[in-house]
Amino acid sequence: MDENIQKLKELIAESDNIVFFGGAGVSTESGIPDFRSVDGLYNQEWKYPPETILSHTFFERHPDEYYRFHRAKLVVENVQPNTAHKRLASLEAEGKLKAVITQNIDGLHQAAGSKNVLELHGSILRAYCSRCGKPYPAERMNHGTGIPKCDCGGVIRPDIVLYEEPLDNEIMSKAISYIRHADVLIIGGTSLNVYPAAGLINYYRGHKLVLINLSATPFDSYADLIIHQKIGEVFSQV
Ligand code: OAD
Repeated sequence: MDENIQKLKELIAESDNIVFFGGAGVSTESGIPDFRSVDGLYNQEWKYPPETILSHTFFERHPDEYYRFHRAKLVVENVQPNTAHKRLASLEAEGKLKAVITQNIDGLHQAAGSKNVLELHGSILRAYCSRCGKPYPAERMNHGTGIPKCDCGGVIRPDIVLYEEPLDNEIMSKAISYIRHADVLIIGGTSLNVYPAAGLINYYRGHKLVLINLSATPFDSYADLIIHQKIGEVFSQV
């Protein structure tokens, strides 16, 4: 076994206060493309850049175009949790992992059995009316055609955080608290480019910061242990 993976295995074995913070790279081995890799969402051809389409202003002005993108790119059929999701769920069940904090909107941590999941950017598995707030099942939004509308006439929207929108304060406060009090913080599958989520790393007080990411991140020098390998393959060994 790789020396760094062996070290991670030891850190996990010795701790009962592990917190995981992840991003799109956690789900690529389930078949969902990430945002910023060469074959990621932001490098695919589309009429507008995905950051524009996934913004509040764009959603308000062009809900039809937003939904074309949403159904074609954000909704991925028949995806299953991979080894990373499953191992994180089993670490929670063993009482070793306190929380999964994710930037992902795919619900795969919960599908794997994780209970305490803080979704910083929401979930495409929930929907609500942008006018009256009434909650709706995500089915029609994700799989229907045209712009889904509420009984009140408002546009139904996904319960995700679009660009220009603030993160949920309560979720952010909980995430900060878990990270501040964590013994081991494992960060994986995120380019750590998008704020305020990426800034969470600054709340960690310990000396067991593990970074698992295929490519380099702006925070590599902060890590006590760095593993540039596929996260599912890493978690299958620890
Ligand atoms: P990114 O696409 O920016 O970063 C994903 C990172 O995961 C990249 O650095 C990849 O190298 C790495 N990666 C890919 N597959 C991996 C694997 N199998 N194992 C390990 N690492 C792997 O995605 P995020 O950092 O999650 O926000 O992006 C943050 C936010 O940007 C998203 O939540 C989304 C996006 O705009 C909103 O939609 C609000």
